[in-house]
Amino acid sequence: MRIDVVSIFPAYLAPLELSLVGKARASGLLDVRVHDLRTWTSDRHRTVDDTPVGGGAGMVMRPDVWGSALNDVLTPGAHLLVPTPSGERFTQRTAEILAGEQHLVIACGRYEGIDARVMEHYRSRDDVRVTEVSLGDYVLNGGEVAALVVVEAVARLLPGVVGNPHSLVEESHGAAGLLEYPVYTRPPSWAGLDVPEVLTSGHHARIERWRRDEALRRTASRRPDLVAALDPASLDRHDVAV
Ligand code: ADE
Repeated sequence: MRIDVVSIFPAYLAPLELSLVGKARASGLLDVRVHDLRTWTSDRHRTVDDTPVGGGAGMVMRPDVWGSALNDVLTPGAHLLVPTPSGERFTQRTAEILAGEQHLVIACGRYEGIDARVMEHYRSRDDVRVTEVSLGDYVLNGGEVAALVVVEAVARLLPGVVGNPHSLVEESHGAAGLLEYPVYTRPPSWAGLDVPEVLTSGHHARIERWRRDEALRRTASRRPDLVAALDPASLDRHDVAV
């Protein structure tokens, strides 16, 4: 998969050199290219923004600069992602869909955002998909942190990126629609707290049962919205009432 990120702060994307994403890049599973939007400016001051038409606070990013950048970076069939607090919610499902794409282009806005004609223009092209995505109901200073989140969430779903693919199955927001159960390691006793006995029993069916009940309890108390969205057919008759 290829991912291009365009930003006025390319240095913000430096963490993409590290950890699993960095390794996936080094091994050729993932081709990430970070670009400085100002490369596509043509004035001495390398201007990327201007005042909002109609008045109001802040600055808006210019469509001509973004248009030049995106015309160069987009390839036929690419999916253009624009992080913005006014976008659709980015979820594990979004990450799964994006992990099936060949080419993602992430356009990081700053200030009050990107001139709306940029998204309208590329939406009208039938060889490009455009999705405006929001990480959640809060406002960041720009799209860069969201781009880091999107790249990490998508990259770890690509075959070969996460060493043990089984760890993708049981995690929070996985197929079960539940938050993950609590996890423990050695030592068996720490700060007066013991690892739950069932986990040391070696009894796999009991361990599975306990984990599922903990996942259900945790989800019910922290994320009742996820419990409400569960498919009743996914519950079994031994599940704790939540
Ligand atoms: N840019 C600013 N705030 C954002 C958010 N909540 N999600 C995605 N991009 C953003």
